[in-house]
Amino acid sequence: MRWPAMWPQRLASRRGERLSGVAIVSGTEAGAIERAAQALAAGELVGVPTETVYGLAARADDDRAVARIFETKGRPSDHPLIVHVVGRDQAAQWAAPWSDGAEKLAAAFWPGPVTVIVQRAADSATTAAAGLPTLALRSPAHPVVRDLLARCAELGVPGLAAPSANRFGHVSPTTAAHVRDEFGDDLLVLDGGACTLGIESAIVDVSGDQPVLLRPGVVGRDELERALGQPLRDADEHSVRAPGTLENHYAPRATLRLMSSDELRSALSLLPATVKGVAVYSRTAPRRHPLVRVMPDDPRAVAQELFAVLREFDDRGTKLIWVEQPPDTAPWEGVNDRLSRAASR
Ligand code: TXA
Ligand code: MG
Repeated sequence: MRWPAMWPQRLASRRGERLSGVAIVSGTEAGAIERAAQALAAGELVGVPTETVYGLAARADDDRAVARIFETKGRPSDHPLIVHVVGRDQAAQWAAPWSDGAEKLAAAFWPGPVTVIVQRAADSATTAAAGLPTLALRSPAHPVVRDLLARCAELGVPGLAAPSANRFGHVSPTTAAHVRDEFGDDLLVLDGGACTLGIESAIVDVSGDQPVLLRPGVVGRDELERALGQPLRDADEHSVRAPGTLENHYAPRATLRLMSSDELRSALSLLPATVKGVAVYSRTAPRRHPLVRVMPDDPRAVAQELFAVLREFDDRGTKLIWVEQPPDTAPWEGVNDRLSRAASR
């Protein structure tokens, strides 16, 4: 599938709705890209839409600007960031070498939701890479961030370091309003609508002999392996040199429990339907039950809404979220990964 074919999308935050000041600006409004590009060129942070989740961006070649990302997120400085680029030409400048595996994945999936880890060119993006000898690179597909990257390149900015635009450990944002909820009105956020994919990119380490899947995404393992022409190894404690990739991230404030369909139905039958503080997200529980939010049958549809649903539960003051465990099959790998992290807090 070509990712850009999924546009156009609706704008998430209607003007005047819960918005104040000028923190959120439509990415398609005249002058918005220019304003954001100038701010980034000057070393400021900007919230940006991507097709996966919103990012908190700074120019990748400015260590002071990148250090501000870590401060703003409350992220430990040894957790490396992804550098976002226009495409392969720009990516290759950050890498030494731009590996064969990186080339294959970029040719197959860029622009799109796949991040490659390569050996880093000397003295480049040191702060973004948290001092590691490797660097994560991705060319995002969202038209607003693509326009922004192109304008930044004209201003001499060779890439944007951007983690997900949430406070450390929290659920990633999939609308501009989510980003404002995380960081308040002082941050300029380009509004590109609700993210069409909804979970973060797949991360493949192609810096060594054998490619390693560090984080599953919506592009399936089989598609990645087909593009690479070889099998992917799973991340383990030896392969993951980056802290953060295997930890309990992506957690809502409420406690989240994963349950089988049977467990969930019998637990639900024991609760009064009017009980406060419990929310259920399930494919098979009774649809009309007041506690139940229906989970779609399609893994892509669940990925798209998952983080927004968890945020909605938190906003309602939910204390306990029961989620029906999706099937243990390849198309659900990305969703199952995020759910098990959210449950392991
Ligand atoms: O879809 C996405 O990837 C989003 C959007 C904004 O592009 N970005 C994102 O960034 O999810 P972040 O920082 O929330 O997650 C990046 C992950 C972290 O778990 C980090 O440890 C890993 O990428 N990572 C970054 N550089 C790495 C490296 N050199 N080696 C291994 N893992 C790395
Ligand atoms: Mg993140």
